[in-house]
Amino acid sequence: MPLSIGIESLSLYTPRFSLPLHSLAEARGIDPNKYIIGLGQEEMSVMPPDEDIVSMAANAASKIITPEVKDSIKLIMFATESGVDQSKAAGLWVHHLLDLPKKCRIIELKQACYSATCALTLARSYLSLHPDERVLVIASDNARYGLNTPGEPTQGCAAAAFLVSHTPRLLEIEPEQGYHSEHIMDFWRPNYLSEAIVDGKYSTRAYLSTLASSWDDYAMKSKRGFHDHSRFCYHVPFSKMAEKAHERLVKINSEQNPSDTLDISKSPSHSLTYSKKIGNGYTASLYISLASLLENDPHDLSLQRLGLFSYGSGCVGEFFSGIVPKEYTLLKDKNRLAHEDLISSRKALSCSEYEQLFSHSTPTNGSEYMTPVLTEQGFRFKGVKNHERLYEHV
Ligand code: HMG
Repeated sequence: MPLSIGIESLSLYTPRFSLPLHSLAEARGIDPNKYIIGLGQEEMSVMPPDEDIVSMAANAASKIITPEVKDSIKLIMFATESGVDQSKAAGLWVHHLLDLPKKCRIIELKQACYSATCALTLARSYLSLHPDERVLVIASDNARYGLNTPGEPTQGCAAAAFLVSHTPRLLEIEPEQGYHSEHIMDFWRPNYLSEAIVDGKYSTRAYLSTLASSWDDYAMKSKRGFHDHSRFCYHVPFSKMAEKAHERLVKINSEQNPSDTLDISKSPSHSLTYSKKIGNGYTASLYISLASLLENDPHDLSLQRLGLFSYGSGCVGEFFSGIVPKEYTLLKDKNRLAHEDLISSRKALSCSEYEQLFSHSTPTNGSEYMTPVLTEQGFRFKGVKNHERLYEHV
């Protein structure tokens, strides 16, 4: 009997500010349909100066750390490409802010948007040796490209925190994974820049070819085909990319099985509900997509198989699968209401307000600095003193 290991609980967080993309389009003199139809994006979350990957992570994880599970968390893996320190793992601040047990190990992982999926895979292997423990995986990122760049409408910021354990209530992870790694320069961020360098069109081609290669590896190892999966979730840099990814899988399947008819219920639409409003959450993006699917798909997905694709520029891709346990229905409405409220309660900014927040500069030499209070609830980044980052709960 194979071990049942997977995602027990999953919580999302995004800061309290958003920019409607029609306002951005207007300010940039671009037809709003390019963003809304062409990229499939409606809004994007905007990071205020008093939030960062740590405050977002603590805000996301605080919702799933109950007294019943707290002491069993022995490993925290923090996935990010927006690191705040070259040495210290961001998870240590979260561990402190949430008062987690000292008998715990904490590390930070990096490989663009892929690393949370690597953390999930590692957590699965770890838990097969430690069946009574839980692993906390956190994915937290701020996607920044720069004002007036083609990448600008594909920004966003968010955290996803999930517990991996032997009591999966949301997704039981299956053992087969297909992967593909290759040194390419489609997107990267040197240490001296706060915005990514990206070859946008090349990155979309690299995403699709990595999907095809990862899928082939997964299909060969699992002996499963397209129709063995009830739904698919993809990494979502912008919604249209996930739709194109799905079209690519459909095309691969129809080339292999020309007589197959297309089942449109498998299209990724419900997995995109949250991303269309949050934007790219980099490492968190696939898990935003998973939460969105589980909480918004009107069909009962109990005992159905999901296919998931994670892509991190540079590049590493992984295709894997999971079975939705029956218990997911017990969490569905509660989680959906919490996430809908999180997204709908954000304050919509004008384009000039967004530009002001975007351009707010934080000293980079460690000199004392206190952030303006814009986040009035939850954990916030307070400032820097003696080269030390300070956080508080309000
Ligand atoms: P662009 O050059 O501004 O856009 O950049 P475009 O001219 O290609 O237009 C986009 C789409 O809008 C096109 O559709 C147009 O036809 C359509 P497509 O041909 O692609 O189907 N369009 C319109 N539709 C309706 N009405 C109109 C209209 N005008 C045009 N009036 C690009 C787009 C995505 C390249 C840019 O935003 C960018 O560079 N984004 C950042 C990079 C990115 O997101 N890459 C995705 C793959 S890589 C990845 O996912 C990894 C990542 O998350 C990072 C990590 O791993 O850490 C990014």
